[in-house]
Amino acid sequence: MSIHVVLGIETSCDETSCALVLNGREVLSNIVASQDAVHAPYGGIVPELASRCHVERIHSIVEEALKKANLSLREIDGIAVTSGPGLMGSLIVGLSYAKALAYALKLPFCGVNHLEAHLQAIFLEKPLPYPFIGLLVSGGHTSLYDVRGVGDFTILGTTRDDAAGEAFDKVAKILGLGYPGGRKIDELSKLGNPSAISFPRPFLEEENFDFSFSGLKTAVLNQVNRLGRLTDQEIYDFCASFQEAVVETLLYRAFKALEKKQYQRIVVAGGVAANSRLRNAFETKGNARGIEIFFPSLSLCTDNAAMVAALGYQYLSLGRRDAWDLGAFASGR
Ligand code: KG4
Ligand code: ZN
Repeated sequence: MSIHVVLGIETSCDETSCALVLNGREVLSNIVASQDAVHAPYGGIVPELASRCHVERIHSIVEEALKKANLSLREIDGIAVTSGPGLMGSLIVGLSYAKALAYALKLPFCGVNHLEAHLQAIFLEKPLPYPFIGLLVSGGHTSLYDVRGVGDFTILGTTRDDAAGEAFDKVAKILGLGYPGGRKIDELSKLGNPSAISFPRPFLEEENFDFSFSGLKTAVLNQVNRLGRLTDQEIYDFCASFQEAVVETLLYRAFKALEKKQYQRIVVAGGVAANSRLRNAFETKGNARGIEIFFPSLSLCTDNAAMVAALGYQYLSLGRRDAWDLGAFASGR
């Protein structure tokens, strides 16, 4: 049986998502239920609450995705699910659900890597040729990849401490902006001066592709402690100056990787790729250097099951079938 309609499931972190994608390209539905409200009172994700919430929601999210796509379970050709990396309890909810559904319906099933799925999201909007540099910037990861094809990618560098999104969230917490803070910092930065405060740009002088954001976060904390109560304008300036330091670091490293590999294309994916300053800075530098820049649209940057179904389609079409004892993995690249 050839594969056309793939049902994707994503529960690696704090979003419960189910999508139906046709031929790896056309999104028929992509339902994403955020748990932000559940975790906000704790200022970060509480893994046990995330797993429980996935259990409560997954079945109705799958039903909603089918309804929106106007499809029945019998019209699915295969099932793809994120098997890692992510929170173990959360991953197991989606993985077990996907296995049970595939077993009951006698459908081909495969687990996919969440990070590779982020890099696949762009193919739902714009087919592009390989190879390309992939920059994945999310709440859990900040890594540069050499991407040569489906399942054919190597890591060039990664963060030595915090992920970029994690730094955004922690700085937002320091500034009293709530959780998750990336989008808020993005908005408030528009009112601030990016040169108001001089923050460090770690490792820029080093000849590697690694990142580090914890020093930057500590620098923000020290400055805030020194100043005491901040005015609104000072908060905006902190946001803009912090954001500029992150963007400049990502931009510098990514273009170094493009230069090293002599590639003409870069895909920027993951939650932080929704950042408006990051998008703007990459586009400006890309135009100046003749490099094609690809950003998925905002809803496909943050965690979603459409990217999982898109990648699953590629693997299932290549004949991959995972066994029923496929396990989840918490960490990895
Ligand atoms: O990819 P994602 O949805 O989940 C993970 O796999 O981590 O990324 C979530 C991260 C959070 O840290 C959030 O604060 C950040 O992406 N984020 C942003 C923006 N929108 C979301 N960071 C900066 N600017 C934004 N506009
Ligand atoms: Zn993600």
